[in-house]
Amino acid sequence: MVRKMIIKALVENTSDYEAFGCEHGLSLYIETSKHQLLFDSGASALFAENATKMQVDLSAVDLAVISHGHYDHGGGLKTFLAVNNHAKAYLQQKAFGKYYSRKPNGEKKYIGLDQALVANERLVFTEHQHIIDSELELFSGVKANRFVPTGNQDLLVKVNDTLKQDDFAHEQNLIIKEDGKTILIAGCAHNGIVNILEHFYTERGSMPDFVIGGFHLYNRSADRSENPKTVKQIGEYFLTTKAKFYTCHCTGLKSYRFLKGIMNEKIDYLSTGNEIKI
Ligand SMILES: [Fe+2]
Ligand SMILES: [Fe+2]
Repeated sequence: MVRKMIIKALVENTSDYEAFGCEHGLSLYIETSKHQLLFDSGASALFAENATKMQVDLSAVDLAVISHGHYDHGGGLKTFLAVNNHAKAYLQQKAFGKYYSRKPNGEKKYIGLDQALVANERLVFTEHQHIIDSELELFSGVKANRFVPTGNQDLLVKVNDTLKQDDFAHEQNLIIKEDGKTILIAGCAHNGIVNILEHFYTERGSMPDFVIGGFHLYNRSADRSENPKTVKQIGEYFLTTKAKFYTCHCTGLKSYRFLKGIMNEKIDYLSTGNEIKI
């Protein structure tokens, strides 16, 4: 019998269970035949608290991936490096840039990673395509061509003391290949989930079988969902890939429900405490 891959949502914006706290952030635990891995670490130590309650042993994780340099994905990295004494953590080369968000009142808030961690010896910095082994691969460098999340407009990077629009070069995506199945995992899909899928297709000549992650169809600082017309087009595009989608976090519940109406069984929500086997 083929062993199934297990994916558990350690933390996400919502929770289906009273026992598991939730926060604006993302953290997934993934068990494959070769690896026990952590994909993102949420905004705080909450992912580790939930992991214990879900019988996930973070000290046994052999590899961590941080999707991009925002606190809601890498805020728990310090906790992870403390509870686990050996796993390497893979981050894109630019993950420790100085990232900010612009609030509706014009205030700029630091939303980057803890700069004190940058010299940690267990961090591995990636660029473009980074092959970890026969099962795992990371890629960055996706061009934001179309369906670019409007929420990106309020996200900035500080370069030489000047704030400018973030280009999300610090964002990487994970590919898992196991038993003939290919899984694509995105953190926030700031470069646009459609562009990420097209980049994937251009590189590999096929679409993934499963797509998991936040699709950034909600602008949190403005409390506004992506235009339903755009969400509809994205949903229709998703259907052409034939993949099964699991989404959460920055997709936002409103956009998710809209996608569900278009895609039916081809999309489901992954809430804190949920587990999927694929
Ligand atoms: Fe996020
Ligand atoms: Fe983000």
